[in-house]
Amino acid sequence: MNPEPASLIDTHCHIQTEEFDADRADVLSRAREAGVETLIVVGGAGDLSTNDAAVRLAEENANLYATVGMHPHDAKDASAEAMDRMRGLAAHPKVVAIGETGLDFHYDHSPRQVQRDMFERFVGLAVETRLPMVVHNRESDREVAETIRSRGAGTLEGVIHCFTGDVAAARTFLDLGFYLSFSGIVTFKNAEALRDIARWVPPDRLLVETDAPFLAPVPKRGRRNEPAYVRFVAETLARVRGVGVDEIADTASRNTRALFRLPEGETTRKP
Ligand code: NI
Repeated sequence: MNPEPASLIDTHCHIQTEEFDADRADVLSRAREAGVETLIVVGGAGDLSTNDAAVRLAEENANLYATVGMHPHDAKDASAEAMDRMRGLAAHPKVVAIGETGLDFHYDHSPRQVQRDMFERFVGLAVETRLPMVVHNRESDREVAETIRSRGAGTLEGVIHCFTGDVAAARTFLDLGFYLSFSGIVTFKNAEALRDIARWVPPDRLLVETDAPFLAPVPKRGRRNEPAYVRFVAETLARVRGVGVDEIADTASRNTRALFRLPEGETTRKP
């Protein structure tokens, strides 16, 4: 018999959203079967109700944790009332991070200055609550780094989720003490430059995620993504780094537990 695979943690999924309303229980059981028992359900992609839904799901499932935030696309909705509501949710015992939030200068769905103001408020909330941050960054490396440095240097921890930047950006965020999280993009055929970065990131700084329902990895590309598929991301990291997938799983899980201060879990699956 094959040994049980080492447990993996999907550090970034949106299984509270309506894309999973029809079969959420099946998605969770497929994840468990794939050795992906612990999930971080990320709020803030979509409207504010995704935060409440993430917290509710974490309340119902021992191995699920939630984050609360607001996507840069929706920065224009970051009213004082919304921020108060999120400050309240952030105090929930299953909320382990602030995010996702950040800057997105690729789509510019909210004006850049509005995004900057919102991101600064969330950095402030993370510093105030002493929670790590889940940061969305697209074509805004310099400004994200500057905001972290000026507003949270030394106190702020976090992850650049779905990292797709270049070597210089990777170095900048690592120097700030941040983790880099790799998604299904690292499995894509044209992602050789990203795989080069995945090869040299220090082992104590890497995380894995799906960003489900988005960004399904090869060989599921084009379908709805789900937490079980984080194993394909880990397999690609193992291949490019020349180590076993169990080593990646153990390393990434240890990093995840440290960053999000999750309770200690099993490093290998229970029979
Ligand atoms: Ni996301």
